[in-house]
Amino acid sequence: MSDPHLTIVDHPLVQHKLTLMRQQETSTASFRQLLREISHLLAYEVTRSLPMGSLSIQTPLDPMEAPVIEGKKLALISILRAGNGLLDGILELIPAARVGFVGLYRDPETLQPVQYYFKVPKALESRTTIVVDPMLATGNSSAAAVQLLKDAGATDLRFMCLLAAPEGVERMRQAHPDVPIVTAALDERLDEHGYIRPGLGDAGDRMFGTK
Ligand code: URA
Repeated sequence: MSDPHLTIVDHPLVQHKLTLMRQQETSTASFRQLLREISHLLAYEVTRSLPMGSLSIQTPLDPMEAPVIEGKKLALISILRAGNGLLDGILELIPAARVGFVGLYRDPETLQPVQYYFKVPKALESRTTIVVDPMLATGNSSAAAVQLLKDAGATDLRFMCLLAAPEGVERMRQAHPDVPIVTAALDERLDEHGYIRPGLGDAGDRMFGTK
């Protein structure tokens, strides 16, 4: 049954690249490159429902009414630090988007998010806001980040991630049923340390080579 809250981008290119990313022997450079490539493909899905209008243009041969994206401008919000890996790719497709950053770390004991940075574009209420974070694990950080963005005025939000755990999806569904999620895969479970299993390990460490 289709779930309007969750879209899994079950596309051969996405799934193949994700398998490469999951493999422990994949290098930092390849991991980063694959994440950038997948972010293009996820961005394709997360922007699918943007409203369209038309523009009167002149081709070298004929005048025509040509389709263009209409409506609100976009804001891309990266949840630090791993969100930056998805941000780079989506910015290549939408270079005019405004960009914001939310810094949250997970307290290793409580697994609850603690805010350390918040800088987002002004007038979020007039933008479609796409929040990016590769790993939707407990959902605590994501739900907290989305709440901060709503408090800052955002009303039209979408969430884009690489991997999700059922627990994280449920947490987001409870806290923010109005925020659709786009992911490359829904994994089996979350472990007692808050890692997605089978997952791919710590996305930030693998992206930045910090382990
Ligand atoms: N964050 C990660 O980087 N990996 C997980 O599995 C869960 C949260």
